[in-house]
This record gives sequence, C-alpha cells and structure tokens, in this order.
Amino acid sequence: MGPIAVILQLLAVMSLTAAKDDGLVRTPPMGWMAWERFRCDVDCKDDPENCISEALFRDMADRLYEDGWKELGYEYVIIDDCWMSMERDKEGRLQPDPVRFPGGIAKLANYVHERGLKLGIYADMGTFTCMGFPGTTLDKIQIDAQTFASWGVDYLKFDGCSSNPLVQMLGYPLMSIALNATGRPIVYSCSWPAYLGGLPPFVNYNLMGEICHLWRNYYDIQDSWDSLQAIVDWFFNNQDEIQPAAGPGRWNDPDMLIIGNFGLSMDESRSQMALWAIMAAPLIMSTDLRHLDNGARAILQNKVAIAINQDPLGIQGRRLLKEKSRIEVYWRPLFQSASALVFLSRRTDMPYRYHTSLGKLHYEEGNYEAYDVFTGTTVKGLNSTTEITLSINPSGVVMWYVLPTTKAQSHHRHRNASPSSEETSRVQISQREIRTSHSL
Ligand SMILES: *[C@@H]1O[C@H](CO)[C@@H](O)[C@H](O)[C@H]1NC(C)=O
Ligand SMILES: *[C@@H]1O[C@H](CO)[C@@H](O)[C@H](O)[C@H]1NC(C)=O
Repeated sequence: MGPIAVILQLLAVMSLTAAKDDGLVRTPPMGWMAWERFRCDVDCKDDPENCISEALFRDMADRLYEDGWKELGYEYVIIDDCWMSMERDKEGRLQPDPVRFPGGIAKLANYVHERGLKLGIYADMGTFTCMGFPGTTLDKIQIDAQTFASWGVDYLKFDGCSSNPLVQMLGYPLMSIALNATGRPIVYSCSWPAYLGGLPPFVNYNLMGEICHLWRNYYDIQDSWDSLQAIVDWFFNNQDEIQPAAGPGRWNDPDMLIIGNFGLSMDESRSQMALWAIMAAPLIMSTDLRHLDNGARAILQNKVAIAINQDPLGIQGRRLLKEKSRIEVYWRPLFQSASALVFLSRRTDMPYRYHTSLGKLHYEEGNYEAYDVFTGTTVKGLNSTTEITLSINPSGVVMWYVLPTTKAQSHHRHRNASPSSEETSRVQISQREIRTSHSL
C-alpha cells in the first residue's frame, strides 16, 4: 500500500464519528499476560518451565480453567513479545517460532477456546517489536490482522517500538479498521498514548475510544512498589485529562497486576488490587499461576474487589484527597448509588489512625453501610456525620464498598446512566457476591 492509499484510509477513519461500539469489553478485560513475569525468556533448553512457548500458555490456560479464575472473569490468556519467528513466511505472514510453538498459534487458540477462555497475541506498529522480532509496518497491517483472525485470536496488544508519531498516527487507526474488516471480534489494546507522553495535545482521548478498546497511557510496570507508585501518581495527577476517556468498551490501562511476584508485600498487593479497581483498570495478571501463594491468590480472587472493578457503569474513579499525613482517599461511583472508597497510606512508619466522615468525603446526608473489602467486616448505621476512624497500614489500604441504606443518592458527583437489563443482572450477581461475603 502506497502512502496515498494510507492517507485516504486515514481520512476514512477520521470521518467515522460513531464510537467503537461493537459490544466488546463493556467492563474492563480480565486475564493473564506473559510479559511482566516471563519477559523474553526464549531459552527453552535451560529453562523449559518459564520460557515463552506454547507449553507456558497451555499451563496458564489450565490454571485459569481449573483453579477458579475463569468463573471470576479472568478469561484472556495473552501472549506478549518474543513469540515470533525472525522471518515471515513465503506469503509475508507472521509465524511463530517453530521450536517454541511447534503446534502453531491456531492450535493453541483451540486449546484455550476448549477451556472457555480467549487468546490474546502481541504485535508492534513499527519495523521491529520491542525485543527485535518482525514488526508490522504500514504495508503489513492488513495481512497481520487477517492472520490473527484466521488463527482465532481474540485480543491484540499492539505495541509501538521502532516507530514514530506519524507512522503511529496512521497505523493505529488502520489496524482498527483492519481488525474490524476481518469480521472476527478482536479486542484491540493500543500502546499508542504511552509513546506520545500520554497527555493532550499529543494524545486525543476523545478519539482513542473510537479506535481502541483499551490503551496504555504510561510506562511499563516493573516488579516493585516504586514502579507501582509512579504509575498511580501519574494516573491520578492526570485524572482530569484521562478519567473522562474511560467507559464501557474503552479503558485506560495502567498495565499488569504484579501481585504474586517478588516486589510487593501483602499490603502493597492489596493496594494494587484496590487502586486498579478504583481506576476501572484491566485486571491482567502477570504472575506464575502454577506457584502462587494463598495470600496473593486471595487478593486476586477477592470477589468484591472484582465486582467493583467490573461495575457496569464503567466510570473510572478519582483521587479525592491527598492529606498532609500522607493518607490519600480515592473514590469511584458504582451502579445503584453504591460507591467504593480506598484509603491509601504512603507512610513508612506504622499503621496510621485516620479520622474522617463520609460528609468530609462529599457524601450526601443519609444512612449508609460500608463493607470492608479485605477484612470482610461490615460497618452499619453510618450517616454523613458519623465519625470514622480507620487504621491504615504503611503502603497499605483500607477499601470500602459503600451502600446507601436510605433512598438518598450516595454522592453529589454521581453520574446518571441506565444500564441495560444484562448489566442489571450482572450487578445483582455482584451484589449477591457481596452479601455472600458479608455472611462469611
Ligand atoms: C465493525 O464495526 C462496526 C461499527 O462500529 C461494528 O458494529 C461491528 O460490530 C464491528 N465488527 C467487528 C467484527 O468488530
Ligand atoms: C448520625 O449518626 C450519629 C452516630 O453515628 C448520631 O449521633 C447522629 O444523630 C446521626 N445523625 C443523623 C442526622 O441521623
């Protein structure tokens, strides 16, 4: 395809005014991705258990299927970089490394589908992937989209290494069109904003949700609390720019969950789960599900945290307060006037006793009850003036699911929206989960 044809196609995209409204990922996608934990380990001779190979993805599909993850919503098994052969085939199609993926991707997709799960794959809008495998140049967009669809792929992570802003401006929308043209529903995850600094005017967040289902705004997460805090700071310091862009079918992506790895304490792990729920972030784990300790498992499988993340209104939460005491308060409005609150301590000394009230957090008059997501206790008989004291661990959180017990609206900032009947039934399910947890 010549540059003129590319520009004509781009103009066609720009004339699309309707949102990317294809019914996919109405709530943030959930699943597992190889990158943060397994990186580009291609040494299957020395490290057969951990190298990027079809066996690794089959193992993770087995774990998702057999260990209760699928029922909780974790459904995408996503291949990241380093799956490819260095050469395209005679027809110019990408092909997997023949030694590490001897069965091919279609067979792997079949394996994943047989377990009721979905398969994601990785490509790069540029000359090479970030690890130096073949990239998707502008002339290869169509053939790569068709190849992925022909294999039965359900999700594409489209990175942006060895590229430039002009190529990306053309390529990301063209891939969106090319995926749609395959006729196969494929979730489209764009790394595009991260390559443009993540902010307007370089990133147009109105347009983003018409082109991609989710997008990476900021740097890759690493296995550390520092990396996690840098991401959280960036997301909430820039909440006015990015929060309105999110909604059903369109999500900001602060990157993978690193819970279960080496860098986070249990408190920090709860903090990630809580903040990712507030952010309506994709819940994409990157940990070894074959060797996961029970503490990490309980956090990742917390039904109420998941229900909050998956709330059908799909409104991304915000930071309400940063106290001098280094306590921060985060809030997300939920369906049926419920809401979630997260109290995060950035302190490094000892559990901090934080005094507040719902009124101080802008809740309207009325009666409420709060369910503590990680301890399973319920606080009843709250009103907006009831004095609340919370003990928050260093680098930990207290997370509350707040329900109004009178008819009053729970919050002055509550947005109106009427979910479909399908969404209503999902909420009833999540509220049932919460009641079930109450009685535990
Ligand atoms: C293609 O886009 C149209 C318009 O947004 C949408 O209705 C349709 O579901 C999409 N098809 C696929 C396969 O993504
Ligand atoms: C709010 O609750 C407190 C106890 O937590 C109670 O003393 C007070 O009367 C209540 N206020 C209203 C308006 O119900």
